[in-house]
Amino acid sequence: MARREHVQIKTAAELAKMRVAGLLVAQTLDRLREAAVPGTTTAELDAIAEKTIRAGGGIPSFKGYSHPPYPASICSSVNDEVVHAIPAKRRVLRDGDIISIDCGAIVDGWHGDAAITVPVGNVAPEILDMIRVCEEALWRGLAAARVGGRLTDISHAVEQHVRPHGYGIVDHYGGHGIGTEMHQPPHILNHGRPGRGIKLVPGLALAIEPMITMGSPETDLLSDEWTVVTKDGSWAAHTEHTVAITPEGPWVLTAHDGGAARLTALGVPCGQPAVAPT
Ligand code: MF3
Ligand code: CO
Repeated sequence: MARREHVQIKTAAELAKMRVAGLLVAQTLDRLREAAVPGTTTAELDAIAEKTIRAGGGIPSFKGYSHPPYPASICSSVNDEVVHAIPAKRRVLRDGDIISIDCGAIVDGWHGDAAITVPVGNVAPEILDMIRVCEEALWRGLAAARVGGRLTDISHAVEQHVRPHGYGIVDHYGGHGIGTEMHQPPHILNHGRPGRGIKLVPGLALAIEPMITMGSPETDLLSDEWTVVTKDGSWAAHTEHTVAITPEGPWVLTAHDGGAARLTALGVPCGQPAVAPT
C-alpha cells in the first residue's frame, strides 16, 4: 500500500538559508574534530558546540528535542555506541577511541544536520578502514541524490559500497528529510533495492547518515532512552551530511565546498549555485 509522504519542497532562497545553517554545522564540526583528543570529555565537546553554534547566530537543534528531551547540543557516540549517546563529564576520551559527533543547528528557522566519526589519537588501522568506508558510502549516497532518481537509489548506493567490505549495516535507523524541522519525511534506510520510494525532485533536502559496525548490525537502546549501542560490543561508525537536490546536481549544504570535490571524484556535478540567490 502506498503511503503518502508529505515532503517539504524548498525554494532556491530557502535552500540558501539552509546553506547558512549547514555551514555553521560544518564550522562547529571542524572545531570538534580538533578538540577530540585524549583527555577531553564529551561534555567539553558539547560546550564547544553550543558556544560555536550560538556565536554563529544559531540555536542547537538537539537540545530539548523529543521525549525524554535530549539534554545536549551534540550526540557523542564512542566506540560501541552507534548514535545518540549523551555527552557526560565522566566520559573521558582515551587514545585509540573513535567518536561519532553529530551536530545540528537552526539558523533563521532552517536546519542543518551532520555527523563525523573521528579517531582519538592512534586508532587501529582496521577501525580507520571502517570509518573511511562509512564516509565513502555517505558520498555514494549523496551522489545518488539526483533529480530523476528515487529515494531508495540513495539507500542502495550506500549499501552497495558497504557490503563488499563485510561491515554490518545498522537497520531501522537512517536518514531523513530536513528543512523547517530536523526530522521530516521521508525516512531513508541505508540498504534496499533501488528505484523505490518517492521521486527525487528539485527542492528536496535530505540528511543521509550511514551507520555501520565491525560486527553484527544488531543494536540495543540503553536505559537513558537515547544511547544506541551494538548488541555484540563491536565498534561502529556514523557519518552524515545534509544535501539539497537541485536540477544541476546534489548540493551538500554541510560541506564547506558544497560537496564539489567528492562529488566530482564520483563523476557527479555539484549543484551549488555559482551565486547565492537572494
Ligand atoms: N542526526 C541525528 C538524527 O538524525 C540527530 C538527532 S539527535 C537528537 O537522528 F538527539 F536530537 F535526537
Ligand atoms: Co540526522
